[in-house]
Amino acid sequence: MTAAPKKLFVKTYGCQMNVYDSERMTEALGAEGYIATDSAEDADMVLLNTCHIREKAAEKLYSDLGRLKPLKAAKPDMKIGVAGCVAQAEGEEIVRRMPLVDLVVGPQSYHRLPQMARAVSGGGRAVDTDFALDDKFDTLAARPKVRRGPTAFLTVQEGCDKFCAFCVVPYTRGAEVSRPGDRIETEARDLVAAGVREITLLGQNVNAWHGQDGGLAALVARLAGIEGLERIRYTTSHPNDMDDALIAAHGDEPKLMPYLHLPVQSGSDRILKAMNRKHTAAQYLALVERIRDARPDILLTSDFIVGFPGETEAEFADTLALVEAVGYGAAYSFKYSARPGTPAAERDGVADDVMTDRLHRLQTLLTRQQRAAQEAMVGRVTPVLFEKPGRMAGQWGGKSEHLFAVHVDAPDGLRGRIGQVRITAAGPNSLAGDLVGIDAAG
Ligand code: 5AD
Ligand code: SF4
Repeated sequence: MTAAPKKLFVKTYGCQMNVYDSERMTEALGAEGYIATDSAEDADMVLLNTCHIREKAAEKLYSDLGRLKPLKAAKPDMKIGVAGCVAQAEGEEIVRRMPLVDLVVGPQSYHRLPQMARAVSGGGRAVDTDFALDDKFDTLAARPKVRRGPTAFLTVQEGCDKFCAFCVVPYTRGAEVSRPGDRIETEARDLVAAGVREITLLGQNVNAWHGQDGGLAALVARLAGIEGLERIRYTTSHPNDMDDALIAAHGDEPKLMPYLHLPVQSGSDRILKAMNRKHTAAQYLALVERIRDARPDILLTSDFIVGFPGETEAEFADTLALVEAVGYGAAYSFKYSARPGTPAAERDGVADDVMTDRLHRLQTLLTRQQRAAQEAMVGRVTPVLFEKPGRMAGQWGGKSEHLFAVHVDAPDGLRGRIGQVRITAAGPNSLAGDLVGIDAAG
């Protein structure tokens, strides 16, 4: 008789790299007999894959652990694990403050989860926040050959050597490490064999990837050779790592999608310097121009921080001016959050009400630009990769090349197909259109 499978509930906070890590952790524990469940009540193990980027993100861990307390009291055999960047940064403190936590594992050591799960099943606690010397991706079992949805993330690079003055990533994820090109190609081929048609290459500083000669542009070219892989994206990029070859690839490689997340954070040269971004606003604008020369219809997105220590009203106005000059298709903007251990945390902050006001003004402008980018699609015919049935019966939803959500009225069976869609209307969350053509079924 085989034992009943144990159930694993994983909650993912934060960025896409955590989404990828959660998948890999689920697969690793799958080899230990765990199957995924979508409710904590049901689970034998709850794993919280955390984010440390801003104070609010980190606080969520402690409020979620508080909510798990009664559940653990009722089910003492249930194991609770904390993974991700809060685990890395505050592992010892979590163990001290939260006796209900059985297991703490950092982003660089989750390949050792199976052993850790075995260790805690006997009632002990396990903590591993080493920057492991063994290669996590080599140690992890090959990805299971299950049928997958049409889009997937693939981590190609981790860590960051840039040390922006506000950012915890170089401390929680460690130094920049690139995975070798052949391993990435193997993983990509496996994903495509499992039904994937679009891959987003992930890295904290993805365009610093140096796993083979020629950098990220060479990797994109290599993956573009995989038959059945139709779309390639990458995120997140640093402006200083946009080399000539990568810019050219946006013009030359049809599988590379016309979408680029290129965070600038601020439009003020003094603030950019204080942030240790190592470029000016004018250099960023010149870069945008070169990218648009290569691919005129590229949609650009960015991240912004308002209220970085010392930011004046005039410096914030420089950010608004830069946004006006670029014209973004979407963007994320945040109030500055002091992170322990980062250089900027030592400096005097901007008052919260000032930050709130600036955030509101910036978001008003960015929302207006996003609406304009959506409206500009109306009347155009654009390829859409269909992913799932829409919210209404008889509808299908997918993503355009510019990563807009698009829905159409269409018969069943479009999952993984690429259709030509004439966009008829732009709503706040998605575009609506008519299906005017469809690729051959894969
Ligand atoms: N405060 C506010 N926002 C931050 N980000 C990173 N660190 C901080 C911080 N301390 C934002 C940056 C980054 C995005 C992922 O999160 O804009 O690009
Ligand atoms: Fe953080 Fe990105 Fe700067 Fe690296 S480049 S320190 S990940 S904001």
